[in-house]
Amino acid sequence: MRHAGITAVGHWVPDEILDNNYFASYLDTSDEWITTRTGIKERHILRNGAVSDLGVNAARVALERRGWTPDDIQLIICCTVTPDMPFPPAACIIQDKLGAKNCWGFDINAACCGFLFGLETASRFIESGAYDRVLLIGADKMSAITNYQDRNTCVLFGDAGGAVILEPVADDTGILDSYLRVDGTGREFLYMKGGGSLNPATHETVDKGWHYIYQDGKAVFKRAVVEMAESSALIMERNGLTADDIAYLVPHQANLRILEAARERMGLTKDKVMVNIDRYGNTTSATIPMCLSEWWAAGKLKKGDNLVLSSFGAGYTWGAILVRWAF
Ligand code: ACO
Repeated sequence: MRHAGITAVGHWVPDEILDNNYFASYLDTSDEWITTRTGIKERHILRNGAVSDLGVNAARVALERRGWTPDDIQLIICCTVTPDMPFPPAACIIQDKLGAKNCWGFDINAACCGFLFGLETASRFIESGAYDRVLLIGADKMSAITNYQDRNTCVLFGDAGGAVILEPVADDTGILDSYLRVDGTGREFLYMKGGGSLNPATHETVDKGWHYIYQDGKAVFKRAVVEMAESSALIMERNGLTADDIAYLVPHQANLRILEAARERMGLTKDKVMVNIDRYGNTTSATIPMCLSEWWAAGKLKKGDNLVLSSFGAGYTWGAILVRWAF
């Protein structure tokens, strides 16, 4: 069976930054609380524009690094919970803005596991032999669904786009194994209640704030700690890998304490975990490709490195993927 490998990475964030002191200036919160409870110091916010802009900008970086034009892409998969609008798919808007004339595409909504589920999907298209050149985007404009009067959630999220290119790879690198799960009983702890077919948008749903994220932070935290740690360890163990064999854990950036729990369960040292939550907060589908792009650009990734990508999010959704770096 041929493997799918990541052969280029890119990311993009808007210029505007909200730091913790901004929230402390109008809410009952503090830099100290946010930093110690979450690890977040600042996050980027997109005032004008939509998720397609985050995705397009990240995709352009990845395409340029690969030396491709948009016409080289055969398939665009966009992972997001904040598409420009419920339909058409953000992937179609991205296709048009990129000017990619030879492709099809669709969106994946798997909350904070969007990128992992997208990576699994994209790799299968390549492994089957059906496609050779896939653009996978993880982008979210979380500011669009965040209530900036709710201190429980508004300090957590930011806006960003990440993109990777996937192609067949001839050697033993690429996407090697995955363990992915959902548990819909988790839907009561993390959701956006309004705007869907159950509660279509009305004056009443807007008055009730159902167009914003709701999260029972404690409940989500408890489950996330267990599932991220266990799935990361499972993927390592069933591939016969020890801590010495792993170059990096690439975790979804939701809370520094959740990442720490996964790191400890895997027996990794701190330098083996990609962490940028301090600068971006939780950007949902974008966190993992952003990490890959930043670490690659800093020259910290080399061909053959074993990476464990791991995430947990609304749904619940969770899992881990073993990637052997391909370039
Ligand atoms: N500033 C000050 N106090 C705050 C703030 C804030 N910004 N936010 C909450 N508090 C208060 C709460 O109101 C609570 O007060 P109370 O005890 O008087 O009610 C108190 O702090 C303690 O709250 P806890 O829930 O114990 O805080 P915790 O240590 O759990 O941290 C957090 C909260 C950061 C939200 C954490 O629970 C968390 O990270 N949860 C998981 C997030 C996650 O992984 N989400 C999944 C991905 S997101 C997605 O899929 C879209």
